[in-house]
Amino acid sequence: MFLVTGATGTVGRAVIDHLLAEGLPVRAITRRPEAARLPAEVEVVRADLSDAASLPAALAGVDRVFLSTAGPEIASHDANLAAAAAVAGIGRIVKLSSGRAGDVAAADPIPAWHRAGEEAVRASGVAWTMVRPMGFMSNVLHWTGSIRESGTVRAPFGQGRIAVVDPRDIAAVAVAALTEPGHAGQVYTVTGPEALSAAEQTAVLAEILGRPLRFEEITPERARADLERFGVEPELAAAIMALRATALESFTSVVHPTVAAVTGRAPRSFQEWAFEYRAKFTAAQ
Ligand SMILES: NC(=O)c1ccc[n+]([C@@H]2O[C@H](COP(=O)([O-])OP(=O)(O)OC[C@H]3O[C@@H](n4cnc5c(N)ncnc54)[C@H](OP(=O)(O)O)[C@@H]3O)[C@@H](O)[C@H]2O)c1
Repeated sequence: MFLVTGATGTVGRAVIDHLLAEGLPVRAITRRPEAARLPAEVEVVRADLSDAASLPAALAGVDRVFLSTAGPEIASHDANLAAAAAVAGIGRIVKLSSGRAGDVAAADPIPAWHRAGEEAVRASGVAWTMVRPMGFMSNVLHWTGSIRESGTVRAPFGQGRIAVVDPRDIAAVAVAALTEPGHAGQVYTVTGPEALSAAEQTAVLAEILGRPLRFEEITPERARADLERFGVEPELAAAIMALRATALESFTSVVHPTVAAVTGRAPRSFQEWAFEYRAKFTAAQ
C-alpha cells in the first residue's frame, strides 16, 4: 500500500494518478475527506500531519510513503510523519522538498523549512529519497484571472529565469523512487527542459492563446499583497516572495537532466504544459 500525503495538492494528486495508472493500491490522507474529490479507487483517510496521534492508523498496512508538506509547518509535519513511519516499519519515504534546499547560499525560509524536514526524514532511519523540484509550471495558474480580465500578467522579478517543471514530471520522478529499486539515499533536483522568465512564459501563453498579452513587472510588495488577497497566510507570502527574488540568481536557471535520467522520458516543455491547460486561461473556472 502506498500512502500519499498532500493528496489534494498539485504534486500529490499527480502522484496518485501515476500510481493508479500502474494499478497500485493507494491510500490518501487529507484533513477533509468530504472535500477531497479523489478517484474512487483511492482509500481516503482523515488525518492531520500536525496531530501525531492521527498518523498510526493512516500508516497501518502501508509500505511506502509520498510525503508532501507545505508552509511554515513543513519541518514539524515531516518530523511527525517520519517518526510515525519509523514506528510503523515503513520501507521507504519519498519527500517532496525544494530545489533550493540544495543551494548553499539560500538563507530564506522555504529552503530552511525543507532542509529541517529532510533532516527529520534522514534521522528517522527509514530509507528515503529527496525530490527537489525547481518552480512549478502550474504556478502561472495564478495569472488566469488577470489574463482573462485584461490580457495582462503582473509579476515581480520579470527578468529572473527559473527552469520550471511540469508537476506531472515531478510526480513521475517521485513514483519511480517509490516503486523501483535503486533510489534510496538519492537527492534528485528536478527541472524542466529550459529556464524561462515570467515575461517569456507570458509570450508562450500569448502564442498558445492566440491573443496579445501584456507583461507588467510589479514590485515585490505588490506581489506579496496579491498573494495575501489570494488567501496565502502572511508568513508564507513573505517566504514565497523571498524565494521568488532568487529567480534573479543563476541557481534557479540551471537545467538538470533528472527527469529523463530517472523516468526515461524527456521532461515536458512549458509550451506543452500551456497547451494542455489553455482552457484555464480562457473560460471561467
Ligand atoms: N510551487 C512551487 O513552485 C514549488 C517549487 C518547489 C517546491 N515546492 C514545494 O512543494 C510543496 C507544495 O506542493 P503542492 O503545491 O503540490 O501542494 P499544495 O497544492 O500546496 O497542497 C497542500 C497539501 O498539503 C495538505 N496539507 C496541508 N496541511 C496539512 C495538514 N496539517 N495535515 C495533512 N495535510 C495537510 C493539503 O491537504 P488537505 O487540505 O486535503 O488536508 C494539500 O493536499 C511545498 O513543500 C513547496 O515548498 C513548490
